[in-house]
Amino acid sequence: MVIKPWQGRFEKSAHREVEKYTESLSFDRVLYKYDILGSIAHCKMLAECGIISHEEASEIVGALGEIQREIERGEFVFDPAFEDIHMAIEHRLIQKIGDVGGKLHTARSRNDQVCLDLRLYLRDVILSIREHILEVIRILTDLAEKHVEDVLPGYTHLQHAQPVSLGHHLMAYCEMFARDDERFRDCFTRVNVLPLGSAALAGTTFPIDMEWTARYLGFDRVTRNSMDAVSDRDFAVEFLGCSAITAMHLSRLAEELVLWSSSEFGFLEMSDAFCTGSSIMPQKKNPDVAELMRGKAGRIYGNLVTLLTVLKGLPLTYNRDLQEDKEPVFDTASTIINSLRILTMLLPEISFRTDRMAKVLEDGWLLATELADYLVCKGVPFRKAHHTVGQIVKYAIESGKKLTGLSVEELRKFHKSFEEDVKEVMDVKAAVSRRTSIGGTAFSRVREAIEEVRRELTIR
Ligand code: ARG
Repeated sequence: MVIKPWQGRFEKSAHREVEKYTESLSFDRVLYKYDILGSIAHCKMLAECGIISHEEASEIVGALGEIQREIERGEFVFDPAFEDIHMAIEHRLIQKIGDVGGKLHTARSRNDQVCLDLRLYLRDVILSIREHILEVIRILTDLAEKHVEDVLPGYTHLQHAQPVSLGHHLMAYCEMFARDDERFRDCFTRVNVLPLGSAALAGTTFPIDMEWTARYLGFDRVTRNSMDAVSDRDFAVEFLGCSAITAMHLSRLAEELVLWSSSEFGFLEMSDAFCTGSSIMPQKKNPDVAELMRGKAGRIYGNLVTLLTVLKGLPLTYNRDLQEDKEPVFDTASTIINSLRILTMLLPEISFRTDRMAKVLEDGWLLATELADYLVCKGVPFRKAHHTVGQIVKYAIESGKKLTGLSVEELRKFHKSFEEDVKEVMDVKAAVSRRTSIGGTAFSRVREAIEEVRRELTIR
């Protein structure tokens, strides 16, 4: 039986079910590198401050390095009796070097240690997510550049609205992901704060140097209040929030991949490598990857709500409830990274069926606004022009004609301002080109937007 480090004041050992119920080693073992890194920093700081000797420190640091290698070689025994990764590593340390190992935990507590580990872990995760987001943006801008001049029926309410550049549509997602990147960058500034030294809740009597540890570990700041530091998980909530927004964007993009690859739309074809078949219907090619990407938003939102709910109503300072922060954070981190990664593989393999888009555009209903704008240019107030074109649309539907199929004589029956030059505006490319307002779909604007995003990417 394992003697717990906190066993001293206990007469009975814990109920056998308690160990299983309270352990976190089965999932917090992913923190091992960060735990060791944090311990090395702490140990060196203790020596710098004369709290332990430099010889003791180097013995501890050496053994921690060996433990890391044992873990990475799969030789480390993860015994749930040690509760969590912090105690498992410390136990092994003492097993290896004896009493000197017991000096490591001077001037710290698992309460500040676990916050430190989670912050170190999230720094890496955020950097990795940002790299993946930037790669997605890079791929989307390349795709957009290829399709600047391809015209797509734009939708509102999922009804044909106005023609737009396909590149413009793709760049809309770049904007979303660029905001996501910005949010993660901002979140990082609140993650990158050192809590170690807060100890259990009140700080420590030892003459430690938190600033030294912060510099060693690359933290921008140290926490200002030890009680807040050990109970604060805002940075983790923020991380889950940023991830939830990114997951929402991924889900929207995934939905369009599903919709556009349907037989009804047929606007794109995904590579076979990113689809699956049916066990019964031989003709099927299902967009499962995109569907899962859409669906995974569910668990990522769930993780955010889980942590918020865990934190709600917790009194200061550390409470064991806080151990429930880990699984949602780990799950979100791996889910979001996996989704972004698969997206970077899937996107370049998409072929857009611009012929199918052109076919839909032939109907010409998307040019109704052009007719109204034409009348406005002839001095008709917009509201009046809108009404007149509405009547023209009704007439065209009733007489089984397309908007582009109406003659100038027919149009003139509705308003005398229509002249021969109306033919020039009834063209999808012309309709797109004319929308030159900032952020508009004009080809020239889309090209500018691509260049701007690329410029920003290089300075991020
Ligand atoms: N495994 C714990 C957690 O993740 C570590 C901190 C435990 N501290 C304590 N006083 N029980 O929150």
